[in-house]
Amino acid sequence: METREPEMYDVVGIGFGPSNLSLAVALEEQRTPLKTVFFERRPSISWHPGMLMSGAKMQVSFLKDLATFRNPVSEFSFVSYLHEMGRLARFVNNQDFFPSRQEFHAYLEWAGAKVAHRVTYNAQVTAVRLPEPHASGPADHLRLEVTDPRSTGGTRLVGARNVVISTGLVPRMPPGIERGESVWHSSEFLHRLKERDTDGLRRVAVVGAGQSAAEIVRYLHDNVPGVSVSAILPSYGYSIADNTPFANQVFDPDAADEFYRGSHRSKEAIWHYHKNTNYSVVDNEVLSDLYQRAYADEVGNEGRLDFINLARVVDVKQGPNDTRVTVHSLAGEESYDLDVDVLVCATGYDPMDPTEILGDLGAHCLQDDEDRYRVTRDYRLVTTDALRCGIYLQGGTEHTHGLSSSLLSNLAVRSGEIASSILDSRVAEEEMGIRV
Ligand code: FDA
Ligand code: NAP
Repeated sequence: METREPEMYDVVGIGFGPSNLSLAVALEEQRTPLKTVFFERRPSISWHPGMLMSGAKMQVSFLKDLATFRNPVSEFSFVSYLHEMGRLARFVNNQDFFPSRQEFHAYLEWAGAKVAHRVTYNAQVTAVRLPEPHASGPADHLRLEVTDPRSTGGTRLVGARNVVISTGLVPRMPPGIERGESVWHSSEFLHRLKERDTDGLRRVAVVGAGQSAAEIVRYLHDNVPGVSVSAILPSYGYSIADNTPFANQVFDPDAADEFYRGSHRSKEAIWHYHKNTNYSVVDNEVLSDLYQRAYADEVGNEGRLDFINLARVVDVKQGPNDTRVTVHSLAGEESYDLDVDVLVCATGYDPMDPTEILGDLGAHCLQDDEDRYRVTRDYRLVTTDALRCGIYLQGGTEHTHGLSSSLLSNLAVRSGEIASSILDSRVAEEEMGIRV
């Protein structure tokens, strides 16, 4: 049994992507007396690095940054960043709401540096547990184990009165298909391509009809001159992401309220009608560009782009020299094989799931009748009476708070709500004399 006394914090954040970075900013701006630390397993801020390709643009307005929607005069806003970089005027001249992903990444790094005192990098949280042994009555803190090479024995123990889990989306492969030397998920695309001798690449298949797939097809076409790309699409070509003003309202901060209060049927309706704002869809600019390339490819008889519609990948055999992909075509209701050098599965992500990191603690987190976590409006897991401390989620709340759960759209407001919730609980405990 672990006997070392852990360092104690009011707030421990697990993961330091945009969500928890936004929380760090909210805590900084609210000048709360809360003692806080964030743990990030990577060596630095890194926002989907395997997809950080030149030319890729943001899917959301620059105004939906880490702070502006909560605090329009924030020193952590994207506009403040541009001002400090001396680029504000030229950014405005550019007349584009959607910066490149590379510029937004630089903004995240800039904001991260301003709250660096709150973060420990190269530190992975491996477990969250009830303190053991713990006094009778509800636990007022949790104990976290953090793999941290700088600590004695490589593990650091930390006590947390509140934990905010924000570990991000989980890459999803098609059922029964494993990643391997020549079978990649889109999330690792740039890293794997860099490791590979691209001169030897002749044929690459890219599975999926979402933004990741379209960007990868375009990138390969631009950057690997000798390669032919087969896009395996479950639909009849790519479909456009609905980015129109009425539909965009599903990402407004108020929409989280309406979704949360809504009936089962209203939640289903929002999903049914507005899933195409985000999933299995492609931004108009990329989609049109790909179509023009395909046409030019046909005119020039180049044979570098091939779009296989109404098809799904159902099996893959990885051999020493090539990879055999079994494709099922809905068009002819037939299956056939395709030999490729590399298969990239741009097959999406599962939402953040805190189950693994919660371990046995999960038994104290209540679920609904569809086995999904129950979450309060302020993003706190509903727990049994065994716990008084807070476990908050940034992500993994699509069933309770709606489509913006995994996106940047509502980060600033959500982080403010979580920061206020934690602070309010502390004040309430002090007033009740539970905590001094
Ligand atoms: P994110 O995944 O960014 O960060 C989680 C962090 O937790 C990671 O840094 C990870 O290393 C760390 N971590 C995980 N487990 C840990 C552990 N046990 N201990 C310590 N650290 C741990 N949305 C949008 O609104 N607009 C957009 O333009 C885009 N663009 C976009 C591009 C691509 C390629 C993808 C795949 C997704 C998007 N998204 C998006 C959606 C995306 O979810 C969103 O941009 C943010 O990444 C969400 O930020 P989070 O901090 O929640 O997760
Ligand atoms: P996605 O939108 O979920 O798309 C996954 C695609 O894979 C879908 O078309 C899906 O089809 C298909 N698919 C799954 N299994 C398949 C199979 N066996 N055979 C054929 N097709 C299969 O995932 P994503 O494109 O990675 O996008 C995820 C999120 O990241 C979105 O929020 C997106 O906006 C974001 N993103 C943003 C950027 C950017 O900011 N520039 C770049 C990339 C991604 P079905 O739907 O039929 O299953």
